[in-house]
Amino acid sequence: SEQGCLSVIVLGASGDLAKKKTFPALFHLFAQGFLQSGDVHIFGYARSNLSDDGLRERIHGYLKGASEEHLSEFLQHIKYVSGSYDSGEGFEKLNKEISEYEMSNKSESSRRLFYLALPPSVYPSVCKMIRTYCMNPSGWTRVIVEKPFGKDLDSAEELSAQLGELFDENQLYRIDHYLGKELVQNLLVLRFANRLFLPLWNRDNVDNIQIVFREDFGTDGRGGYFDQYGIIRDIIQNHLLQVFCLVAMEKPVSLKPEHIRDEKVKVLQSVNPIKHDEVVLGQYEGYKDDPTVPDDSNTPTFASVVLRVHNERWEGVPFILKAGKALSSRKAEIRVQFKDVPGDIFKSKKQGRNEFVIRLQPSEAMYMKLTVKKPGLEMATEQSELDLSYGMRYQNVKIPEAYERLILDTIRGDQQHFVRRDELKAAWQIFTPLLHDIDAGNLKAVPYQPGSRGPKEADELSERVGYVQTHGYIWIPPT
Ligand code: BG6
Repeated sequence: SEQGCLSVIVLGASGDLAKKKTFPALFHLFAQGFLQSGDVHIFGYARSNLSDDGLRERIHGYLKGASEEHLSEFLQHIKYVSGSYDSGEGFEKLNKEISEYEMSNKSESSRRLFYLALPPSVYPSVCKMIRTYCMNPSGWTRVIVEKPFGKDLDSAEELSAQLGELFDENQLYRIDHYLGKELVQNLLVLRFANRLFLPLWNRDNVDNIQIVFREDFGTDGRGGYFDQYGIIRDIIQNHLLQVFCLVAMEKPVSLKPEHIRDEKVKVLQSVNPIKHDEVVLGQYEGYKDDPTVPDDSNTPTFASVVLRVHNERWEGVPFILKAGKALSSRKAEIRVQFKDVPGDIFKSKKQGRNEFVIRLQPSEAMYMKLTVKKPGLEMATEQSELDLSYGMRYQNVKIPEAYERLILDTIRGDQQHFVRRDELKAAWQIFTPLLHDIDAGNLKAVPYQPGSRGPKEADELSERVGYVQTHGYIWIPPT
């Protein structure tokens, strides 16, 4: 192709992330023609002693949703190289393989994308190896990394500094896969291409905003990893905070990645320190049954925190960020709740609040809770929905997987949906004092029943800061 042949190098190729996310995403891009068959080669790298076929067999079962033909063609483009993550030998061998492929391809320039599907503890050494042995002599080299980026402000900054010595910011792609979700990407359009929302999206009209993540399963064998991080580091400090940025930030000067990321940093810097009485932590009963979790663990598997934004648009509006594992349902949504209508003449008929809900998953949708006259002879009111359910409106559109989109962005060199170094720092600044207090045992996680809504204290907190309970709503396709 015009830009030369592409090598995608998946480091940690035999691990879970690679198997479940990275290879399937590459496969879908391949099957849809975004990776040109003659011009792409995928290298798996890991410590295990595997043959090319060994790797192919391992990932095979996870590659779904395209024809057998595509599948066997895709698998042919995969090669395996084994080596350690901290010795030159393996990376020299890897570089030799990549170079051989590039020579055989005969295009003038080439592209190298390294995907680190690895624990962050090895990022510094692996990046050093890439820098020393595997840089592309005739085109770009880009590196994808994924959280956790450190455990607090200092450790994150240390990691940033280490990587920053090896790669320029425009070579580093920090994935937050929530930024690859369709309805998260839609937030910019929704907010800045619709006149309707412009005058409403502020403290004069909005009472409170909730950004909620629920999962209906627990840590499922990941307890050992999870216990070192907890739900705030696993979900809130990154995924929910990124969503928060897009909901709360000011309009960027343009759609250029730097302009968008500038606004995200600004709104993060406007967040006040989190107050202890605006935090609820929970831990589901049975969490500590996992043998890799210590018996006295205070790690939260549920948290609700209130962010207060100190600026002209949002002063006084609570942003409730809530996430939990082992709850009653799996759902991620943004709920913008508007203030009551002043001088309400329907008082006796229980006027409900307007609420605008953006459901990220499952069943992507946006809907607006409105009060309407209940159809019929009586003058009664009820709450109804103005509904844009994607399953109804976009029946024949396949919504791409987050990783698919983000890998494609990386190949295209578009950093809009990736986290910039200063943004990461600002995100850690918000949560570090609270996390240190939790780690020191100054805040306790209250137990909750698996399969419940989480601790009742969380609902009480939401109500205390102004949220009025409404009912969820899901459009079910007719059978
Ligand atoms: C990951 C977390 O980043 O996101 C997991 O580490 C979580 O704990 C997952 O299950 C949720 O992602 P999604 O796309 O299924 O909502």
